[in-house]
Amino acid sequence: MDKDFNYSNLKLGIIGGGQLGKIMSQKAKKMGFHVTILDPTFNSPAAQVSDKHIIGGFHDAQKLEQLVQDSDVTTFELEHVDTTILKELYDNGHRIHPSPYVIELIQNKYEQKKLLDERGIPVPKYKSVESQEDLKSFGFPVIQKSKREGYDGKGVLMLKTEADLEKAIQSESFIEELVDIDKELAVIVARNIEGEIKCYPVVEMLFDDRTNICDSVMAPARISTEIEKRALEISTNAIKVLDGVGIFGVELFLTKSGDILVNEIAPRPHNSGHYTVEACATSQFEQIIRAVTNLPLGSTKLISPAVMINLLGEEGYEGEPFIEGIHEALEIPELSFHFYGKSFTKPFRKMGHITVLDDDIDRALEKANKAKKILKIKGSKQI
Ligand SMILES: Nc1ncnc2c1ncn2[C@@H]1O[C@H](COP(=O)(O)OP(=O)(O)OP(=O)(O)O)[C@@H](O)[C@H]1O
Ligand SMILES: [Mg+2]
Repeated sequence: MDKDFNYSNLKLGIIGGGQLGKIMSQKAKKMGFHVTILDPTFNSPAAQVSDKHIIGGFHDAQKLEQLVQDSDVTTFELEHVDTTILKELYDNGHRIHPSPYVIELIQNKYEQKKLLDERGIPVPKYKSVESQEDLKSFGFPVIQKSKREGYDGKGVLMLKTEADLEKAIQSESFIEELVDIDKELAVIVARNIEGEIKCYPVVEMLFDDRTNICDSVMAPARISTEIEKRALEISTNAIKVLDGVGIFGVELFLTKSGDILVNEIAPRPHNSGHYTVEACATSQFEQIIRAVTNLPLGSTKLISPAVMINLLGEEGYEGEPFIEGIHEALEIPELSFHFYGKSFTKPFRKMGHITVLDDDIDRALEKANKAKKILKIKGSKQI
């Protein structure tokens, strides 16, 4: 897209119609762009706020091609996509960012880790599993991960002792040393077509013990300026290695001995960057659009400390969602409520989130935890 491109007519295509696509689409509409999304589900969250919805799966070559042909630029809200046709279209000059080659690399967690490692980015010790014997290489406990298709902790397994080998993942996998984690951190990094890079503040991710889903995020992280500086440097270098254009969620481990390791990189807006909508000068969702349409990146300045909490489907319920406690929760000052508009809830499904601002991060956390106790996403059916 060169400088004389008429942005008033820009057509954006988004692969994936979930909550990330929804907020991305809302930001694109704010900028006056035309948005088409590709998603298999009728009335998916992003379809509710987009101009056009192509109903199709992420492995449907014909529908992927239709989206790219219809759009000036195509981007992603998820990485589990068939890249074959996308690579062909990209090689023929269609604008797809990040490039399907970057997406393909990231799809394989092992190849991703190997590249980062070879280029000097610190990662946990890892090894490909070619035989049952390889699973024992690091002793126990050890983490086993499938190379492909993992998300929300699915495809990650802890083998506590040798006896756990019988429940080991059978698909292509690798093992990783069990990291002695002090905190899980994340940095959202934006890189535009010109190669300009901007980082958002380092945030702290807190996980639900039952599901391994990141359920709250604190911005900024409660870390020293030295660790903050190192986290930003490592994240920036990791995105330079990938050579990608768009938004990248870099997940980091801060170890008990003070090292920072890269866990994995998401090539799209990230759950840990939801807070940027209310708390930063430019949200990650506007930023990705700027990045992939060859516009200058916006400021990533944190305007206020924030805590984000995911609203997960309550255990024991499924069906049409019902929001319990909304009146009481929305009394809490500086609380912003997001509900994705999914027509079906099930246990631990991401249904919405809240972002709470406060000049004091600990007070923001208190207010967010209060809201979390009040708000429950129940369903029409008890299970
Ligand atoms: N080597 C490790 N040592 C200790 N804990 C780990 C290790 N690898 C992963 N974990 C834990 O498991 C979680 C999920 O791992 P990972 O991010 O690789 O999986 P995922 O399915 O892609 O998850 P998500 O979609 O939530 O990012 C991590 O956030 C961390 O809590
Ligand atoms: Mg992860």
